[in-house]
Amino acid sequence: MFFSNNFISHKLVFLWLILISSTVLSSELIQHSTHSERTKAAKEVTQQFTQTLGGHLKSEMKTNGPVKAIKVCKEIAPEIANDLSIKTGWRVTRVSTKPRNPLLGSPDQWERETLASFTSRANNGEHYVDMSKAEVVNEAGKSYFRFMKPLAVKPVCLNCHGSEDKIPETVKAELDVMYPFDQARNYKIGDLRGAISIKQPMDLPLRKRF
Ligand code: HEC
Repeated sequence: MFFSNNFISHKLVFLWLILISSTVLSSELIQHSTHSERTKAAKEVTQQFTQTLGGHLKSEMKTNGPVKAIKVCKEIAPEIANDLSIKTGWRVTRVSTKPRNPLLGSPDQWERETLASFTSRANNGEHYVDMSKAEVVNEAGKSYFRFMKPLAVKPVCLNCHGSEDKIPETVKAELDVMYPFDQARNYKIGDLRGAISIKQPMDLPLRKRF
């Protein structure tokens, strides 16, 4: 009886060791292989964000002008971010060092550092359109995949983010009422306006479709 029990327990320990080592191995493989998959997926999401928002902004500016287009940035932009967050399981936001809406647009420390790194990369000759940053970071004992893609200022942005002489008076009047803490003015074409920022806990599997 003693002999067979011992035999079973040895067998169990052996099986347990195999299980543990294969779990460790496979989780390492998953983590390793999904970093590039996560980066690719994050790039796709930022592209969707920019294209959807850009489309709405362009058509509203053309049909109803910049005052009406404020609504696109105020209501549709957070809606798109929310939709994408639900589809992906990620937190998808837009941030800036000089936010118009401090509630939604204020960067955390990682985002502030990444925005600063984008600016210095631009000073060294890189273009914002080619830049992105993907990193797995540890925050309060939890692992997160973080990703950021810069948003540079184009001519259309000046209507609402340009210098005082570029923003129409009617737009200024609306912005003054809606955004008493507005810092997002006096930008020039090619400046870094902000970035799309993505964050996902590493223990959430990457969704294949969104
Ligand atoms: C018609 C006016 C308008 C135009 C044009 C416009 N924006 Fe904005 N933008 C806004 C408003 C209003 C907000 C604040 C949205 C909110 O309440 O969250 C905003 C917010 C943002 C934010 C989020 C961070 C922040 O400052 O709160 C970014 C990033 C941004 N805009 C980038 C751009 C870029 C890049 C362009 C050009 C492609 C652009 N915007 C064109 C009005 C505009």
